[in-house]
Amino acid sequence: MIVFIDGEYVKEEDAKVSVNDRAYVFADGAYEGFRVYNEKIFKYEEHKIRFQRSLDELRIDHVINNEIQDIYEELKKVNNYENVECFYYMHITRGQSPRAHAFPSKKSKVGIYAFLMPKALNIRNYEEGISVCTVPDNRWARCDIKCISLIANCLASQIAVENDCAEALFVHDGVITEGTKTNVCFVKNNEVYTHAKTNRILAGVTRNSLLELCVKNGITVHEFPLTLDKLKDMDEAFLTGTTEELTPIITIDGKKVGSGEVGSLTKKLQKIFKEEVNRYSY
Ligand SMILES: Cc1ncc(COP(=O)(O)O)c(C=O)c1O
Repeated sequence: MIVFIDGEYVKEEDAKVSVNDRAYVFADGAYEGFRVYNEKIFKYEEHKIRFQRSLDELRIDHVINNEIQDIYEELKKVNNYENVECFYYMHITRGQSPRAHAFPSKKSKVGIYAFLMPKALNIRNYEEGISVCTVPDNRWARCDIKCISLIANCLASQIAVENDCAEALFVHDGVITEGTKTNVCFVKNNEVYTHAKTNRILAGVTRNSLLELCVKNGITVHEFPLTLDKLKDMDEAFLTGTTEELTPIITIDGKKVGSGEVGSLTKKLQKIFKEEVNRYSY
């Protein structure tokens, strides 16, 4: 696979970064993950706005111009990924400087890394639903920034794997916030409940699109702090995310959600979301 690193397109195994890149010593950077359908970056503008916001919040002095599109086009060409459903990743770091916590006094050039890889939806999870577990939300208080420092998410994701689960849901002060790489929605009486857009969650592009689609389709949405003890009352649950789209959850911590089957509103929303993907990409 050919990747992009700091201005060059090179084989993945030849892509090197300096030990002084602040991403390496401090995880000092922001990232985005995009989905490519039919060779188009889904919700490009929304991702670009979120990426710029993450950089601004981290005070990384860089204005994103056309690099997301330009690097994508080149990676598609050099890797021969025409007509392949892909995941596209890009991160931007504060650049290189000898290790010291505060920002370098002289502005350094940002580091940019990007790759494009074939990735299709996990159809089995999408159709049959998944099991998830809950874990304490011990992340920092700026989960709204898409920062490359993801160790708390990695630890939680590993707990999910060790419990034969496809995802872990974070719980902060008794409230379910989101997954390690997804947002989470619940359904009660055909109405959708999800955590509000605060510093405790990443404002998912998929989440936001879905909530807009709910409103357009007359489905009531509550951006509401759902506590763990309320889970037993929920009829349905699903994850939203760039690579998951809407993936149904059928058990949480070993207990069935509703009947333990993929819910009817979840199926309806999967269809509505697919229509949006098709409208946007084809
Ligand atoms: C912590 C977290 N929450 C939610 C999401 C879902 O966001 P999106 O729908 O933009 O992929 C992600 C995606 O990477 C994430 O890392």
